[in-house]
Amino acid sequence: MSPTLSIQHRPRRLRRTAGLRQMVQESRLTVNDLIYPVFVMEGSNLKEEIASMPGCDRYSLDLLLTEVAAAAELGIPAIALFPLIPYDQKDNAGTESYNPQGLVPRAIRAIKQAVPNMIVITDVALDPYSTEGHDGIVQDGQILNDETVAVLVKQALCQAEAGANLVAPSDMMDGRVGAIRTALDAEGWINVGILAYSAKYASAYYGPFRDALDSAPKFGDKKTYQMDPANGKEALKEVTLDIAEGADIVMIKPALAYMDIIYQIRQQTNLPIAAYNVSGEYAMIKAAAQQGWIDEKKIVLETLTGLKRAGADLILTYFARDVAHWLKD
Ligand code: PBG
Repeated sequence: MSPTLSIQHRPRRLRRTAGLRQMVQESRLTVNDLIYPVFVMEGSNLKEEIASMPGCDRYSLDLLLTEVAAAAELGIPAIALFPLIPYDQKDNAGTESYNPQGLVPRAIRAIKQAVPNMIVITDVALDPYSTEGHDGIVQDGQILNDETVAVLVKQALCQAEAGANLVAPSDMMDGRVGAIRTALDAEGWINVGILAYSAKYASAYYGPFRDALDSAPKFGDKKTYQMDPANGKEALKEVTLDIAEGADIVMIKPALAYMDIIYQIRQQTNLPIAAYNVSGEYAMIKAAAQQGWIDEKKIVLETLTGLKRAGADLILTYFARDVAHWLKD
């Protein structure tokens, strides 16, 4: 039978079989791309589900070790650690953030002992430690920049001392990457890297995370330090500054509503790029899946593959354990 159309190019030829599709596939999601964010709290033998993040729990340190070991077993190379700090340990200056006996340094040491090859990434910001729920020190309703950076430097040094592989400033204060790099080098932590939350937007997608850590701002919002969702060029400016200040990896956060930013930054830098598939993005998929309205596994794999295609090398996602399982099937 002769073809009805005379067509020079038939793109469908390369989609005909699974083998052909596999051969021409441009982006691939692998377990090596995953960074698993985990929540730790005080106590023992405790595991609390986060209401707005079904399937995601806060663990006391002992149980967190089991969770981290399970992640390692699945081949997940890295975790990002976030603490729930008891309210009586919070103050405006986030003093607890650089207590060497604090929850995070204890967690880092325990994880490094129990699962030595797990890459431990720690958040540098004051919000879990702040009575005000802000990422910096508050004075007269303002978030102080330089005073905050001085505390962030102490926090990063404390985490490096405890054994963190990468410190991840998520605070969006100006100049913090350079100040942290200088301090780490001065103290001999030349091999502790910086994963900079470079383009971090003032986003409603962080809602469930703030429930998880009880860290919502007590007044106002974070718009004087996190970025305006309307801005793209400003993201390139932030990334340029962080790279100049010594960032090893740059991050865009949230991920889905900002894929154009990931793509543009991909054109601008050869550093690894991380995308944070944040709590609200997780919650939306979970909620729809629980209703039976979408196929969770397919939607998650499609979403994360989209982030790889946009230019991300690394993805922080609360789906990390599920994805590692699915990729094995
Ligand atoms: C804290 C921090 C936040 C997230 C990561 N680090 C919350 C915020 O900035 O308010 C959000 C992560 C998520 O929503 O999954 N500086």
